[in-house]
Amino acid sequence: MENSTHTQTKVKWQCPSNIAIVKYWGKKNIQIPCNSSLSITLSNSFTEVEAELSAKTEDVPVQLAYYFEGELSDLFGRKVVKFLENNIDSFPFLNDHALTIHSTNSFPHSAGIASSASAFGAIALAMLDLAYGFQNKEIDDNFYKEASNLARLGSGSACRSVFPSYSMWGKNSEIEGSSNQKAIEIKDIHPNFQEMRDAILIIEDEPKKVSSTIGHGLMNNHPYAEARFIQANKRTAELVEVLKTGDIERFIQISESEALTLHAMMMTSSEYYLLVKSGTITAIEKLMQFRLERVIPVCFTLDAGPNLHVLYPKKYQEQVEDFINNELTDTYKKVIFDHEGTGPQKLDI
Ligand code: DP6
Repeated sequence: MENSTHTQTKVKWQCPSNIAIVKYWGKKNIQIPCNSSLSITLSNSFTEVEAELSAKTEDVPVQLAYYFEGELSDLFGRKVVKFLENNIDSFPFLNDHALTIHSTNSFPHSAGIASSASAFGAIALAMLDLAYGFQNKEIDDNFYKEASNLARLGSGSACRSVFPSYSMWGKNSEIEGSSNQKAIEIKDIHPNFQEMRDAILIIEDEPKKVSSTIGHGLMNNHPYAEARFIQANKRTAELVEVLKTGDIERFIQISESEALTLHAMMMTSSEYYLLVKSGTITAIEKLMQFRLERVIPVCFTLDAGPNLHVLYPKKYQEQVEDFINNELTDTYKKVIFDHEGTGPQKLDI
């Protein structure tokens, strides 16, 4: 290949999705969050991205062929081209190389799981790995910080997926090292929250009716925005403490209130909309009743859709999964059993 002395022209990365406990909802400028957020990086729900360079044949700023599940995908491909063009300083080799990306998800396309976090996480990692190759740099801790920053520019929540386990994003005066540009890993985790389980109940598998980008936009001039951003920052700081001390009751309250607050923001924006379905509400009610009767610390959260994430410590796995498999089946179409994971990884080709 012309002008290249490096050896690495093809890399493959796997990056998991994440589920936010404190929600990012509202952004300004270039992907700067209006409040800090904190999430669990998952394990079984991931995107794999293979990125390969070849000689450029077209006179365009970025020449990209983007394949999703083996098929050329123009829609998402255009989003990725925009991301690469906006960040060409990080990927100068794209000035004289064409790029082919093959992307696959571990979860079914129709599952209704947000894939932009895992997709942009994997894209950022693969592209930065190629960039490091050109500079003869080794992958170190700094690599993941840079990848998180780049992933954020593709999709905000993606910056948290670059780190394993519990990860937070957004400047918070109470949390040392926190930043609007990238996520950080929250390390001091009480055994109660290690190996947390997340059963994703797919209540509805249609694509989202209102995109997250539009939803974030509706937080501008939202009547409750200011109070919401203050609340989320307080909760993020509190949750970091809760994760340290093991206070599972408080974890449950924060998780469920965040889910309902996120949806309350949607329902109270100027162009209001409703994403929860009757199955979502029934599953929530049954789950609360089950918790009360069985005294098991299980709770729920939601992302920007109707699907219910059921969260529980590993030691209650059997009881909760029996409950999901026997008592909730009339509320969901399928269920994906996932758990807190070890973060992204580079794969052999
Ligand atoms: C409800 O990260 O998908 O999942 O930055 O526009 O790509 P963009 O938005 P996105 O928003 C995610 C919102 C959320 C909450 C969260 O993950 O914190």
